[in-house]
Formats: sequence, structure tokens, C-alpha cells
Amino acid sequence: MAHVKIFDTTLRDGEQSPGVNLNRPEKLEIAKQLERLGVDVMEAGFPASSQGDFESVREIANTIRNVSVTGLARAVKSDIDTAWEALKGGADPRLHVFIATSPIHMEYKLKKTPDEVVAKAVEMVKYAKQRFSKIEWSAEDASRSDLKFLARIIEEVIDAGATVINLPDTVGYTTPYEYGKMFEYIKQNVPNIEKVDLSAHCHDDLGMAVANSIAAVENGATQVEGTINGIGERAGNAALEELAVALKIRQDFYPYETNLVLKEIKRSSDLISKLTGMQVPRNKAVVGQNAFAHESGIHQDGVLKHAQTYEIITPEMVGVKSNSLVMGKHSGKHAFKDKLKQLGYELSEEKIFEAFTEFKKLTDSKKEVTDDDLFTILTEIQTMT
Ligand code: KIV
Ligand code: ZN
Repeated sequence: MAHVKIFDTTLRDGEQSPGVNLNRPEKLEIAKQLERLGVDVMEAGFPASSQGDFESVREIANTIRNVSVTGLARAVKSDIDTAWEALKGGADPRLHVFIATSPIHMEYKLKKTPDEVVAKAVEMVKYAKQRFSKIEWSAEDASRSDLKFLARIIEEVIDAGATVINLPDTVGYTTPYEYGKMFEYIKQNVPNIEKVDLSAHCHDDLGMAVANSIAAVENGATQVEGTINGIGERAGNAALEELAVALKIRQDFYPYETNLVLKEIKRSSDLISKLTGMQVPRNKAVVGQNAFAHESGIHQDGVLKHAQTYEIITPEMVGVKSNSLVMGKHSGKHAFKDKLKQLGYELSEEKIFEAFTEFKKLTDSKKEVTDDDLFTILTEIQTMT
């Protein structure tokens, strides 16, 4: 089984979610939970972006001992120096340095020719190598870059000392087939590519971040980047909990494993939602409130007979206590009887029928019937002669 490293960027790209601002103690609390979750690398922030971020990254690097802590830097000497100051006390420090490689970014944002971009990338990796032994180099907007140019710059930064090559889909533009093909091309056209980790970093603008990441893994990526709950710039990043569970559940098809402790997923999701203020949508895969809830009578009946009829993930696997059968207008008699049992009622078939009829009437005016509603119905039924 091939191992896929998990690079968590909840504290850097995740914090770039509009409206999110984490303070130092909050960042440290998240970092400790990410350590329990078992990520391989955590990007603690962008040290040169603010004094607060610098201090947070330094504190996390000095505290977390079982995960490699990294920080982001532009291809600028002062960013690299600041990152070193923040990360040098870490157990396994690494730098994450990036420069854009797409025509639109090089021309309008960087105002540099492709040759100048190659020279700058190489110069900065060599500069960083004087301090960092581990350097991740990212080709920002890789998915909109010219493949031949990408192969050329990657070859040069590997020669300069980069140990991880990251190919971000910065604007969430690519599709699984296309993104996979990019990894295949780089694997086939860059000498020494086997000597470094190849990383995927996907944004979710077209809703394909997780699918694109899996396509990258199928085509040689050895590391995947993302965030918990998929938070991040604009539509967010690849949701790591979805990715890790998908790889686990579909091991029959994808022979890959990660180090994530899946049981820590729900706790991580809840903590990050609480501290960022970003609510998890009810229907979100893996961690949404509805992910293990069943409402229709047919589904409830199936789940009561054998959970796997309608559940491909067990709630326990991701740290959720149990599934739930929601009592609503689609619920059937089987689930209703089961609910009465749970509430401690042993009724005759006749009384159950009466209670079920009252329950069904109530569902016409209420979306979800609560335990209190059921107690009221049952009290009335029992007092009726
Ligand atoms: O999406 C992106 O391109 C990034 C880089 C800084 C790696 O987040
Ligand atoms: Zn990003």
C-alpha cells in the first residue's frame, strides 16, 4: 500500500477564508488537535505577513514535536529570513516558498519574463538552502501554466535543493483528468523527480478539489494538501477529512493509505468550526450534521436491518457517536417502533398504530418531530381508554 503524506494548511490557507481571523492561543489549540489527528506536515502560517502570525508560527514550531511545521514565504529573501526565525526551533522545520508560473501571473502580477521567474526561483531556493534542509517549492497557478515551462523550472529548483514540488490548482480551474495528466507529464519529463515528494494543492472553485487531489495521487502525487472542513480562499481548499475517508473507504480501488487518525476527524472539524466561526453545512460529506442521519422510511428500514444498506462510512470511524434516524414525514413504521423502544415504551400493536397515526398527522405541520412531541402523543394515547 503506497503512503500519501497529508499536508494540512488550515492555519495558513484555511485562515485566508474571508472573515476568519485566529489569534495565537486559538492557532495553538488547532495545531495540537492537528497533531492528534496525525497530519504529516502542518503549515502554521505566513510569518512575514504580520507580527501576530510570526509569533503564532514560532510558538507552534516550538511546541509541536511530532509533526513537521512549515511556514509560507514569497520568493523574497526577507520572507525566507523571517520564516527561518519563526521555524528554527521546530523539531523538523521546513520552508514553503512559492512563485507564480502561469503566463497571466508572470506578466501582470510579477511583471517578470519566464526566464526571470526561473532565475528568481532558483536563487531563492539556493538562498533558503543555507538554513533549511527541507524546502517545499510551489509553482503558484501551476494548472494554468505551460507544461514545458513547468518541467523546466521544476528541474532547476530540484537541482537548487528543493525537496518537495507542489503543483497548486490555485484558482480551482482544473478537472480530475487534466490535473492527473499534469502530474503524469511532470513525472515523465523531469529528471530526478523521483528524488522529491510531489504534492497536490487544490482549490474548490468548481467543486472538484477532492476529486482533483485523488487524480493527482493516481498519477504520482505523494503528498496532498488541504484543510479541515475545506475552509480556505474563496470556495476553499480540498477537505482533508473527505480525502482521507475516501481513500480509506475505497481501498479496494485505490491502494493508498494516510497517517490520519480518522477517529479524530469529528473533534477536529468541530474545533475548527467553533474557532473560525465557519459553520459546517448540514449536508457536508463526512462531518455534516446530516452525514449519518436518515429520514426516509425506506432508508430507515434498510439501516435498521443492516446499516450498510445506506451507510458506506460508519459514524464511529470518524468519531461520531452513532447514526440517527430523524422522525419526519418520510419516516416509516419500522423506525417509529424502534424509536418507541429507545424511549422506553412497550406498546401493543393497536396502540402503536394509534400513535403512528397521530405522529403522521403531526409531520404535516412539523419538519422534524422531537422526542418531546412523541412523549406528548404517547401520553395522550396511553390516557385514552
Ligand atoms: O493556492 C496556492 O497556489 C497557494 C500557494 C501559496 C501554495 O496557496
Ligand atoms: Zn492555496
